[in-house]
Amino acid sequence: MAKLLRKIVVLLMFRLDWRKLIFICAILTIVSVLIQISRLPYPLTELIFPPPISLSSYKSFNSTIYLSKQIQSNNKDGSPMVFLDSSRQVNQSIVTFMKKENESGQRRRRNNLTSINMVAPSSHPSVRNLPSRIERYLRSLTPDEALAFIKRDIENAPLVSDDDPELYAPLFRNISTFKRSYEWMERILKVYIYGEGERPIFHQPELKGIYASEGWFMKLMEENKQFVTKDPDKAHLFYLPYSARQLQKALYVRNSHNMKPLSIFLRDYVNMLAAKYPFWNRTHGFDHFLVACHDWGPYTLTEHEELTKNTIKALCNADVSQWIFNGEKDVSLPETFIKHPRNPRKYLGGRRVSQRPILAFFAGNNHGRVRPTLLKYWGDDKDKDMRIYGPLPTRVSRVISYRGHMKSSKYCICPMGFEVNSPRIVEAIYYECVPVIIADNFVPPLNDVLSWSAFSVIVAEKDVPKLKEILLAIPLRRYIVMQSNVKRLQKHFMWNVKPIRYDMFHMILHSIWSSRVNHIQS
Ligand SMILES: *[C@@H]1O[C@H](CO)[C@@H](O)[C@H](O)[C@H]1NC(C)=O
Ligand SMILES: *[C@@H]1O[C@H](CO)[C@@H](O)[C@H](O)[C@H]1NC(C)=O
Ligand SMILES: *[C@@H]1O[C@H](CO)[C@@H](O)[C@H](O)[C@H]1NC(C)=O
Ligand SMILES: *[C@@H]1O[C@H](CO)[C@@H](O)[C@H](O)[C@H]1NC(C)=O
Ligand SMILES: *[C@@H]1O[C@H](CO)[C@@H](O)[C@H](O)[C@H]1NC(C)=O
Ligand SMILES: *[C@@H]1O[C@H](CO)[C@@H](O)[C@H](O)[C@H]1NC(C)=O
Repeated sequence: MAKLLRKIVVLLMFRLDWRKLIFICAILTIVSVLIQISRLPYPLTELIFPPPISLSSYKSFNSTIYLSKQIQSNNKDGSPMVFLDSSRQVNQSIVTFMKKENESGQRRRRNNLTSINMVAPSSHPSVRNLPSRIERYLRSLTPDEALAFIKRDIENAPLVSDDDPELYAPLFRNISTFKRSYEWMERILKVYIYGEGERPIFHQPELKGIYASEGWFMKLMEENKQFVTKDPDKAHLFYLPYSARQLQKALYVRNSHNMKPLSIFLRDYVNMLAAKYPFWNRTHGFDHFLVACHDWGPYTLTEHEELTKNTIKALCNADVSQWIFNGEKDVSLPETFIKHPRNPRKYLGGRRVSQRPILAFFAGNNHGRVRPTLLKYWGDDKDKDMRIYGPLPTRVSRVISYRGHMKSSKYCICPMGFEVNSPRIVEAIYYECVPVIIADNFVPPLNDVLSWSAFSVIVAEKDVPKLKEILLAIPLRRYIVMQSNVKRLQKHFMWNVKPIRYDMFHMILHSIWSSRVNHIQS
């Protein structure tokens, strides 16, 4: 025993390199300090926003007192905290505050003042370069808590200067909130995709034709690495990956005029998911979404009340008069007619304003409630400025093709068909022609973020007889601005085989995300 002790002493005294030891100790100390800091419940405010003094600190203190009162009273009856009432910041802070407080009781006194500031940040670090501490803090929250935090941050979005190279402010309703919301999406959003459901109705994207939007979205969503999560507990959104077009092809009995089998099928699918997982019942579908471009998209939901009312629906048939599409919550999905899936950009572009001799152009089948009137007043070459046809006659298309007409017209008329939506709107954008939308009750694509009056003309159905008058009344200067806005809008309506920032895929996903954020509490 003594021998062993002596050996150790010798080792310590003579063999050990003390300088190394001190170095190691120093490193260990620094690491442990860093770990301590990272475990602070409000690292963000402590380190980024210094606790406010003067007036604002008085305010905070006032609400702190209020907070503690609330906590006490809420604890008395032992009920769980009120869950994320989005319109009330104070209640919100209580939830966060309580949670953190419970995790680290002894730090409470030090941090209760700053917590409020943190939940409603007063300064705006860029979302794209968030300090990693903020990010870690957000990741420590449940998905709903994180969304509530983000919602408040977006409401206080910093004003964006007009010279953002990637975004052109006049195209947007509010460029500041859009940009902030978009960047948060990039930073945070996680989507869980249900694996259930057999091909071809599920998981089989169709990239061609007039319903291509639902297919492109499905394809790009399912192969996405950034947003998709396999862990449903991390998800902010749950995607029901079906195609309304495939549903129609598989289950609709020709000439039966009966959509019921389609909606029964969807009802059963949702009920199966609700029985198998806790996610649907937890929110009654409020955090679930679907993307359906086929005209019947809305009608095939009606057998399931929660699916109809609660789910976030991205629909081409965005008709508010049917009481299925909800203009406050749902997303108007752009209908894109894709002929060349390998190269959706083929033929993009059009002539300069000075080389657009035709005032207005339309060609298409004569169905629905608007087109017969349109043809009655403006068809049959009644007016040489108004090139309004049924299906484009060969005598005309031999000289200028359908596409050629769009590329050399000032205005492209987009009347509704059987339903309010029309692929012509996006076609017009591709060919740099200002779209003229004629469909009452139609919510134009991505209307939640885009400012349609900046690049389109919306004409009421009853005003079809005055169409030419309305178009001629638009001053050339204003037309030139609209047409140049159409060109700047193109990139937001483009499908890319590999999605890029602010393209069609991201714009649709953003509107779905934005709906989720805005309705974080029900
Ligand atoms: C502090 O709270 C009291 C009572 O709740 C309220 O009347 C007062 O306006 C508050 N003051 C501030 C600065 O918020
Ligand atoms: C907090 O939420 C409760 C329950 O929803 C509500 O009664 C109370 O008025 C809210 N308090 C504030 C300050 O919004
Ligand atoms: C605090 O945590 C304990 C266990 O860690 C839990 O039983 C209790 O309900 C929590 N209280 C609140 C108010 O969250
Ligand atoms: C923290 O809250 C308690 C009441 O819960 C209060 O007495 C205390 O003064 C607060 N601390 C600070 C620094 O404001
Ligand atoms: C955009 O939203 C921000 C944040 O809510 C607001 O401060 C700003 O006034 C809005 N801008 C416009 C043009 O509405
Ligand atoms: C969800 O609710 C439905 C209907 O109330 C029920 O049949 C189903 O079993 C529930 N799912 C789970 C996972 O509890």
